Amino acid sequence: MHAPCTARFVGQNAVHNDSLRQSPTDFAVPGACNAPLRSTMYSLLKKILFLLGAEEAHDLAAEQMARLQNIPSMLAWLENHYASRATVSPRSIWGLHFRNPLGIAAGFDKNAEVVSFLSALGFGFVEVGTVTLHAQKGNPKPRIFRFPQKRALINRLGFNNDGATAVASRMQGLWNTVKQRGTFQPPILVNIGKNMDVGPDEAPAAFEACFRIVAPFAHGIVVNVSSPNTPGLRDLQAPVHLRNILGRIRRARTETEFLTPGNHPILVKIAPDLSSEQLSDIAAVSLELADGMVATNTTLDRVGFPEGENQTGGLSGAPLFERSTQVLRFLRQLVGPAYPLIGVGGILTGRDAAEKLEAGANLIQSYTGFVYGGPSFPRNVLSELSGHGQAILGASTVNRQPS
Ligand SMILES: Cc1cc2nc3c(=O)[nH]c(=O)nc-3n(C[C@H](O)[C@H](O)[C@H](O)COP(=O)(O)O)c2cc1C
Repeated sequence: MHAPCTARFVGQNAVHNDSLRQSPTDFAVPGACNAPLRSTMYSLLKKILFLLGAEEAHDLAAEQMARLQNIPSMLAWLENHYASRATVSPRSIWGLHFRNPLGIAAGFDKNAEVVSFLSALGFGFVEVGTVTLHAQKGNPKPRIFRFPQKRALINRLGFNNDGATAVASRMQGLWNTVKQRGTFQPPILVNIGKNMDVGPDEAPAAFEACFRIVAPFAHGIVVNVSSPNTPGLRDLQAPVHLRNILGRIRRARTETEFLTPGNHPILVKIAPDLSSEQLSDIAAVSLELADGMVATNTTLDRVGFPEGENQTGGLSGAPLFERSTQVLRFLRQLVGPAYPLIGVGGILTGRDAAEKLEAGANLIQSYTGFVYGGPSFPRNVLSELSGHGQAILGASTVNRQPS
């Protein structure tokens, strides 16, 4: 017997209490609503989608999501069936309210085309991008590869995206719609990067220009210096470059008129393939010049994953879990209890989510888990997570205001 689903809309997403609010009552178990039926439907759909190449399947699914989210009754139905019970362990960070800690990681919605759909599935926040200043096609196809037995993906997309101006105008359209309809929209972070042909000396200016175009429409910005498929990008994690990029963006922030509420944090997304020394250096710069970190991006490492040895690109999903969690745990030690960290890499279940939170994440994200888990993924993870209340209560609290 399953509990009936009821729709719940929350009218606003900004609060000004910057403590991480958690109480045991936040962990009321969300009921399952026709869960077996939903899971059977997705198993069937997945069989069909997985007959296509990984990128073709993604594009087809995203196309349908974009169409469906334009039908208000469909969006309400999705909210009702998927998101209505997504209030699990809500928290307040950077003056923003997160109804739950689970976000969709960067790369799924590079161009801000399906934000409303993803929100209606119950994600607590959405990270759009990576967006670059100019539109670019990325690397030649095929460039995403599935490893279903291992719940893993390898991608070498190379920042295919529509460019900052197109993404900004799409987000402006989204905010207009949200205002018109009076609907709930969880926080949106925009992840920014550099175009392939931009060298290290020009990178800070390129990041700043991209920031100035997209930031007004975002609740926060993630500076991506960690994707492995853009030559030279990871070198920008070196303190001298990172300092320069963050310095310019911080200055630009003071001159930006934001359409969104909150403190507009600047976050740094890092790679898992870093030594302890490199991590310490990056953490020191981030503590000084950024408002949080995202750990981690995909890995180039293939240790324990021989299936992927012949495929270049970034590995995500289950084989990444351990390393990315180690990095997160180490970062938490480095930055202390009050600095916001987003944990990402290999979250496929509620147990994985709980482990990331225990390792020190204030918020968590997934991409590959969503690909294998389908539309019920956020709901299932959150439902399982609600059974780990004590573990989540053990996570650190966050009081840090953007500097
Ligand atoms: C197909 C694909 C595309 C991605 N694109 C981006 C991107 O554009 N920018 C970024 O910062 N991370 C990108 N990522 C990395 C994810 O955001 C995430 O950090 C990584 O996949 C680990 O999480 P997961 O194991 O839950 O997938 C991408 C991942 C995948 C699988």
